Formats: sequence, structure tokens, C-alpha cells
Amino acid sequence: MSQNVIFCFSGTGNCFHIARTIAGKLGDTDIFQLDRLSGPVDVRDAKTVGFVVPCHAGGLPLGVREMLKKIDFSFSSYLYGICSYSGYPGIGLKELSKIIPINYWAQISHHCSCIWLFPHTLMMPALSVEAAQKRSEELAGKIADDVIARKFSEKEIPYNPLNALESKAWPALVAKKAKDFSVSARCIACGQCVKLCPKGNIRIVNGRASIGTDCIQCLRCLQFCPEEAITIGSASKKREHYHNPAVRAADLMESCIHID
Ligand SMILES: Cc1cc2nc3c(=O)[nH]c(=O)nc-3n(C[C@H](O)[C@H](O)[C@H](O)COP(=O)(O)O)c2cc1C
Repeated sequence: MSQNVIFCFSGTGNCFHIARTIAGKLGDTDIFQLDRLSGPVDVRDAKTVGFVVPCHAGGLPLGVREMLKKIDFSFSSYLYGICSYSGYPGIGLKELSKIIPINYWAQISHHCSCIWLFPHTLMMPALSVEAAQKRSEELAGKIADDVIARKFSEKEIPYNPLNALESKAWPALVAKKAKDFSVSARCIACGQCVKLCPKGNIRIVNGRASIGTDCIQCLRCLQFCPEEAITIGSASKKREHYHNPAVRAADLMESCIHID
């Protein structure tokens, strides 16, 4: 086991890039993708354990809570959490802290991955992809410095009850939205979406991707599709696709990577 461990969940790569940037500064770090954990993970010997998660509908992405419960951590490790969001960070870190008692937390705004709701350019403050990426890397670098210094957050993690309501209503909306996926004739059956889907919800049927209803709305399938063949409702047909410019689809298929 490496000295440092980061658990990350990432749909379009923003969280993965934050995790990799922090790991690059810490050195000797294992980055685990939460959605690829097959069973419990014992990280009790790690000196630092971080969590990087996006905000989905005001809270944690579906299933992340259960994934976090698979982690066997020690109270003597330095524990920290980071939320990536576009407009408002929600209560995901508060939810995380109920499972993992984090010592330190931070939030980073980046481009929006929820293509059916907003164009990716919606972020706070509004920045170009390049400027947002630079800002995210700088903030991740500062967070890494805080982790190295074992800084403790003095401020309480914010909690907005409206976000709690939104997060509670999210599973029903996800079930509804899952029916809105469609795959066009542009699909070349490359199978990338099959490999990316955290739920094993995509199959190739008669030479075309077929998306089932067991979806958590990470939108990896759509945002990384090389042919832009996947859509979810009419707005997504017109909007530019987005994924983090430094992250490839293959990066999100690894269950664990080590950074020296
Ligand atoms: C289904 C879905 C719901 C989202 N909900 C919110 C939200 O409530 N508030 C927000 O600020 N951003 C929201 N976002 C945007 C993401 O939190 C943001 O783009 C984040 O950087 C994505 O990280 P990732 O690339 O690692 O998946 C949502 C994105 C998706 C896909």
C-alpha cells in the first residue's frame, strides 16, 4: 500500500484530474476509482486518504455513499474530501463526512458535465475551458500543499437543506432521464461506452450501443463518445460535448493507478 491514497469518482474527468494533480504533488499515491471497487479496501496503513467527488443534483452521485462504506480507513490517517461542481457545491461533502470523518475539505468549480441541463460553459465564475482547467490545477496544487502540511479545516462544511431535498428527489429523476437516452446511426459499435459505464448498463446490440435503465447519470458514455452518437433529450443534441481536456476515456477504465 502506498503512503497516500485517493478515492475518486469521475464522470467527465474533472475529479480524476484533480486527484491526479494532487497525487503528482504528494508522490507515492494510489488513486482508486470508487465505481471500480470490487470489494472492501483496507487503507488503514495509509498516511493520507483523500476523496474527490462531483456534485450531482446537490449531493453525492448515486451509489457513491455505498461505495464509501466499502473503505476500511483508520482515524489516525489524515482524511480529506474535495467536491468538484459547476454552479453550487451542494451537500456531498457533508454526506461524505458522515461516513468518513474528514479533517479537511475543499471545493473546486469547473465546467458542467450535465449536458441536458446546462451547457458545459456554465460554471462559477464563468471561465473558458483552458482558464477553468488552469484554475482547477492551481487550486488542486494548493490543496496538495495543505495535505502535505496536514492542515485542518476550521470552518464547518456548509449545509443547505434545499440541496438535501434536491438530492432526495434525484433517484426518481435519474430513473426518468434514463429513458431519454438515444443512440444514433453514427454509432460505430466501438464498445468504449460499454467499458466506461460504471453500472454495466450498456451492451452492443445489432452493431449499435444499447443503453438500459440502470443509469446513475455520470454521462461518461455520452461525453466521451468519439462519434457523438449518444444523446439524452433534445438539448443535448445541440450542445457541445465536454470532458476534461487532460483526461482520456482509458484513464477512467483503470481501477487503480499509482503515481510516484
Ligand atoms: C447528473 C449531474 C448532475 C449535476 N448536478 C450538479 C449540481 O447540482 N450542482 C453543480 O454545481 N454541478 C452539478 N453538476 C456538474 C458537475 O458537478 C461538475 O461538472 C463536475 O466538475 C463534474 O465532475 P466529473 O467531471 O469528475 O464528473 C452535475 C453534473 C451531472 C452529470
